[in-house]
Amino acid sequence: MFRKITSLTALLSFLVTLLTSVVLYIVPEGRVAYWADWHLLGMTKTQWGDVHTAVGTLFLLALLLHTWLNWKPITHYMKNRAREFVVMTPSMIFSFILVFLVFAGTLINLPPMSTLLDYSARIKEEATEVYGNPPYGHAETSPLKKFCGFLGLDVNMALSALREAGFDPSIDENTLVQDIARSRGVSPQHVYDIIRARQGGDPFALMPVQPPEGTGKLTVTAVCTTYGLELEEVLARLKNAGIDATPESSFKDLAGAHDMSPKGIYMIVRGE
Ligand code: HEM
Repeated sequence: MFRKITSLTALLSFLVTLLTSVVLYIVPEGRVAYWADWHLLGMTKTQWGDVHTAVGTLFLLALLLHTWLNWKPITHYMKNRAREFVVMTPSMIFSFILVFLVFAGTLINLPPMSTLLDYSARIKEEATEVYGNPPYGHAETSPLKKFCGFLGLDVNMALSALREAGFDPSIDENTLVQDIARSRGVSPQHVYDIIRARQGGDPFALMPVQPPEGTGKLTVTAVCTTYGLELEEVLARLKNAGIDATPESSFKDLAGAHDMSPKGIYMIVRGE
């Protein structure tokens, strides 16, 4: 009975750990997930991570117990034909080399490990292009007044824009941006888009004065989604500064290729 429970717990917890690991592989970066109010099957990124860690730990404990219960057959794998105990059997050497190659290959960025990691990074980048990047860290948890103050936006114009767009009239300057978004089942980025559209003037001038955290990782397309900018105009501004960019270029890559910082690239786009 105890053996059966151990093996079945190991199997089930392994399956849950595997499923949650697939979700963590494709989940947007933390700041983007919270900015977008990202959920999958009703669970936030933090909840998927928490379940993965807790059930993963149960899996490890069940595996330890499973190893202990099956110690005898395991020691058999480490015996030679003369039934002497040998740690470095051919099977052990093979496993050792395999683990070492994957470990070292990951550190020096060799395929297929680098391909696996790059693919995850690409999925996360695409999520930023769809959801946008917060204009400053944890912007969604700010009250509207602080949000507008931080971004140089007029809070009264923001409130009338939201009312015109059909948001609850009880929303005021103390309502958190994430609560405003949830009240209509939209993302904080959508709320930001509505507020910004009403401020009028040049959308480039409405970009935060300082580039927010994570700007280096952003692609040109993600910056356009975040600040409602015309892609063609951004590419033209970069070209005028001698920077050949594509919609997929990240600010970090552009900076690296032109001996600048990502902040410098951001300032060029902002028009400074
Ligand atoms: C079935 C084998 C497993 C696979 C394929 C797997 C895969 C992953 C992946 C893809 C991530 C996300 C990495 C990223 O942020 O880019 C992750 C995070 C993590 N894994 Fe696993 N994992 C496995 C087993 C475990 C086990 C047994 C534990 C034991 C506790 C564990 C603990 C963690 C923790 C603590 C994190 C960070 C979670 C967070 O960001 O909240 N994993 N894992």
